[in-house]
Amino acid sequence: MCLAFIASLLTWSSSFNIVSAQSPDVVIPVPAEVTMTKGTYKFEELPKIKVVYSAKGFENPEAYSMKITPKGITIRASGEAGVFYAHQTLAQMTRDGAVKEIRCCEIFDSPRFPYRGMHFDVSRHFRNLDFLKRQVDVMASFKMNRMHIHLTDAAGWRMQIDAYPRLTDFAAWRPQVTWKDWWTADRSYVEEGTPGAYGGYYTKEEMRELVEYARERHIEVIPEIEMPSHSEEVLAAYPELGCSNEPYRDCDFCVGSEKTFGFLETVLSEVMEVFPYEYIHIGGDEAGKSRWPSCPACQKRMEEEGLKDVDELQSYLIRRIEKFVLSKGRRIIGWDEILQGGLAPEATVMSWRGTEGGIEAMKQGHDVIMSPGKYCYLDHAQDAPFKEPESIGGYLPLEHVYGYEPVEDSMPSDKLHHLIGVQANLWTEYITTDAHAEYMYWPRAVAIAETGWSMPENKNFPDFRKRVREAMEVLRSKGYSTFDLDTEYGERKLAQTGIDHLAKDAEVVYNNPMNPSYPGAGEGTLTDGIIGGWTYSDGRWQGFLSDLDVTLDLGAVTPVRYVGGTFMQLVSPYVFMPSRVEIFVSEDGNDFTRVAEVWNDVSQKAEDLLFRSFDTICDVKARYVRYVAHQSGVAGGWIFIDEIVVN
Ligand code: ACM
Repeated sequence: MCLAFIASLLTWSSSFNIVSAQSPDVVIPVPAEVTMTKGTYKFEELPKIKVVYSAKGFENPEAYSMKITPKGITIRASGEAGVFYAHQTLAQMTRDGAVKEIRCCEIFDSPRFPYRGMHFDVSRHFRNLDFLKRQVDVMASFKMNRMHIHLTDAAGWRMQIDAYPRLTDFAAWRPQVTWKDWWTADRSYVEEGTPGAYGGYYTKEEMRELVEYARERHIEVIPEIEMPSHSEEVLAAYPELGCSNEPYRDCDFCVGSEKTFGFLETVLSEVMEVFPYEYIHIGGDEAGKSRWPSCPACQKRMEEEGLKDVDELQSYLIRRIEKFVLSKGRRIIGWDEILQGGLAPEATVMSWRGTEGGIEAMKQGHDVIMSPGKYCYLDHAQDAPFKEPESIGGYLPLEHVYGYEPVEDSMPSDKLHHLIGVQANLWTEYITTDAHAEYMYWPRAVAIAETGWSMPENKNFPDFRKRVREAMEVLRSKGYSTFDLDTEYGERKLAQTGIDHLAKDAEVVYNNPMNPSYPGAGEGTLTDGIIGGWTYSDGRWQGFLSDLDVTLDLGAVTPVRYVGGTFMQLVSPYVFMPSRVEIFVSEDGNDFTRVAEVWNDVSQKAEDLLFRSFDTICDVKARYVRYVAHQSGVAGGWIFIDEIVVN
């Protein structure tokens, strides 16, 4: 690394007003070992920093030690990465140089995982090079080392490919600015230069510039080229690569056509010229496969190759591409769907649909990067949805992200070396501006950085929150838009306290079965006194595609004055209020009397997250309460309820 660059990290630029003699308890990710020693070191114009390269004790090239004494600072590492990370630690301790005196100590530091990544979806909304470089700076400061860029998807192709100019002349541009407007309109593309055309792409020169900029900061850039699905933009520009041969009809490549392989291999070859690192991400997620069963070419391929279904057809494509990538001396990463149908051992799996795919991949001997949606998908709202910008839904506050522990009991101990790291993902359907993207990343991606670097026994959320709150102040002083933890509202209040009521712990009989996809916490969910939070996937809400019909047993005939259940509406994932609720009571469990019918009055067009109680005040005696919530009337729509309260 050039010395000028190290020096620039230590330029005394910031105007932070911080106590003198800073100790290392501000550092993120928390270092492996810190021993405080006597005295302080005072920075002079030319800091006394000595760098010693030492192989012994620093087998991991990212590890470093730093001895801070009143006389100076000695950094030891076996390579440039370790020295670089020592300087990041120092930069944090000095608040980028604003603090002139630091406490003496000895630090030994080394990462838990070799892969500590962040993902950038530049397809849904194009971000310029300057934005990416600015995020590289922050990633590096928190010792993250992999930048995964999702360069292709339906919303726009983003990298110059010389052999296929229509990818960037046409498939990189759309008439609408927001993804939502584009998605709800006709999902079309326009020629580059059309007045109002929105989008963009990176030239190869720009991508090389990014690779070099990131390399100087010890970050490898990993390009993702999606296949076989999420490829509407390619198939609009080159319809001969789809099963229908017509633009705007297909989302998956035609696996029966050799043209598809010609295209993918040419594109990947050009991509590999620009990105020098071992990994090439080939997507592989969420293939629709809907045209393949009726496509003569795909059917012919299946017959010739002895493939029994469309899953095996997808696997055929992935394996063939993997072979090609391996032949160039590189390795593939793919989303966990690539596991279906078998893979070569060199393939690395990125587990996003929970962690099961990743665990299975480890068992099969593949390297795995964990990025489960529940903890690592930063497109979910990070605070109470009513105060946050529109998002894809869900609720993923900093504390939940930080709480992610990648090693699970069900992982075979002899395969743990295959768990190579973690990654924060941000899909940008609802994230139009750079400022909004930064707001979604920071500080939550820092929690992933600490999970990836620090040992779990050194992690502590209250302490992390304090450190990260200050680190975000530093970022804001540099012009970044971060979420302000001081404004955090937190979880739904009732979800924090729970409630006590007459039917708490009552036995519940399901007259209609619950849906296995959203059982909440199982059979006791509706009477456990635990109230659902901001998201239906928190294990507290129970979801139904059919009518909800349950009978609660209060144990003895009791006066009943109130019966009610709370439902959630969130239109984008198809969660609606029930059309009506009927409430019945009975003393003997045989003869039920209907005491209320409550009709929905919430518009199905209301897009915000809404809660509504369907309840009644009554004056009856009952042992059994039957609660029936009828479906919304929207085909495929869900209803979600958290608790049935009786008083
Ligand atoms: C994904 O989120 N579809 C990988």
